[in-house]
Amino acid sequence: MNEEIPGLLSEFENKLKDVSSLTSLEELKNEYLGRKGIVNGLLVKIQTQDVTVRKTSGSEINVFKKNIEEKIADHKTNLLRVSESPFVDVSIPKIKLPQGSLHIVTHAIEEISRLFERLGFIRMSYREVEWEYFSFEALNMPKNHPARDDFETFFVDVSADDKWGRMVMTPHTSNGQIREMERVKSTPPIKMINIGKTYRPNWDASHVPMFHQFEGLCIDKGISIVNLKGTIDYFVKSFFGFDRVFRLRPFHFQFTEPSFEIDISCDVCSGTGIVNGLKCKLCKSGWLELGGAGMVHPNVLKSGNIDSNMYSGWAFGFGIERVAMMKEGLKLDDIRVLYSGDIRFLQQF
Ligand code: FA5
Repeated sequence: MNEEIPGLLSEFENKLKDVSSLTSLEELKNEYLGRKGIVNGLLVKIQTQDVTVRKTSGSEINVFKKNIEEKIADHKTNLLRVSESPFVDVSIPKIKLPQGSLHIVTHAIEEISRLFERLGFIRMSYREVEWEYFSFEALNMPKNHPARDDFETFFVDVSADDKWGRMVMTPHTSNGQIREMERVKSTPPIKMINIGKTYRPNWDASHVPMFHQFEGLCIDKGISIVNLKGTIDYFVKSFFGFDRVFRLRPFHFQFTEPSFEIDISCDVCSGTGIVNGLKCKLCKSGWLELGGAGMVHPNVLKSGNIDSNMYSGWAFGFGIERVAMMKEGLKLDDIRVLYSGDIRFLQQF
C-alpha cells in the first residue's frame, strides 16, 4: 500500500472544498493531474521501487488519479450550475418553436363578421343545444310537419318539456331569429348576424356532420326583397371578388315566403361542372349551393311577437365551410379535408 496516497487524497479534498471558481479549479487540476503534477510525481517515484511492488503501486496511483478526476468533474458541474457568469451569446440562432395558425373556418368567420359589421349588423351567438320549439315550431314548422325532415336532427337524450319539446343539437342557426326577436323585446329594427355550429348526420364531399352557419336577419318598416338581394350581392362581391357569379334559385322554406337558395359558380371546376373530363366531384353542375334565404314568414314574426302589418324582414342562412371553400383559387374539392386534422393542409393557412 502506497502510504502517501491517503494523506494526499484528504489534502486534495480539503483544497477542493475551498474552490469556488472555474479558474481555481483548473489550477487545482493542474497541481494534481498536470505534467509536473502530484500524480505524475508519484508515478516517477515508483520507477525506483522493487519490480515486485511496482505493479500494485501503479494501480493504487491509477485509482487515486481516477478519484481526483471524478471529484474535479463533479465540482465543475456544480460550479457551472450556480455560475453567475453574465455572458449571454446573442449570436446563437433562436430556437424556433412551432407556431399554430387559425383554421380556415375561423378566418372566414372573422371576415364575415367584419363585412356585416360594416353594414351595421350586430354579431350574436345563440344556443347550439336548443329546444325543439325554437328550431322548428316557432319557425312555422309545427310538430310532425314533413318540412322538419329536411333538417335531419340529432336529439339530446334528456326528457322533453311540455311547452318547448325535446332538446336538439341545432340543425340550423335559424333558431337565432326567434331568440333575437325576443332579445329586442319584439321592437325592430333588427340587424343581426348569428354565427354558430350546426349539426346534421351527413358525410360526403359537400357535407359534414358538424358545420357552421351564419344567419342574417333584418327587420324594419318597409324592408323588401330588394334589400335582401343587395345585401347578398354586397357579401358575395366583398368575399369572393367582383368576377364571381351567384344566382338566386326559387325554393321552399317554411319560415320564409318567397324563398330562395343561393348558388355560387364553383371554384373547383370554374363553373363548368367538369374537372379533367369528369363531373366535378363537389358541385356536379358548375354551381355550389351556399345557403337559403327569403322574406320572413308572417307566422315567424308572430312567434317573435312582431306585428307583421307594421314590419317586414328578410333572413338568410349560409354554410360557412362551403363559403370558405369557394374562395377564389382554393380549389378545395372535399369539405371533409377541413376537419381531417391533416397538419400538411392546416399549415397552409
Ligand atoms: C337552412 O339551414 C336554412 N335555415 C337557411 C335559411 C335561413 C333559409 C334563413 C331561409 C332563411 P339549408 O338546409 O339549405 O338551409 O342549409 C343552408 C346551408 O348550410 C347549405 O346551403 C350549406 O351551405 C350548409 N349546409 C347544410 N348542411 C350541411 C352539411 N351537412 N355540411 C356542410 N354544410 C351544410
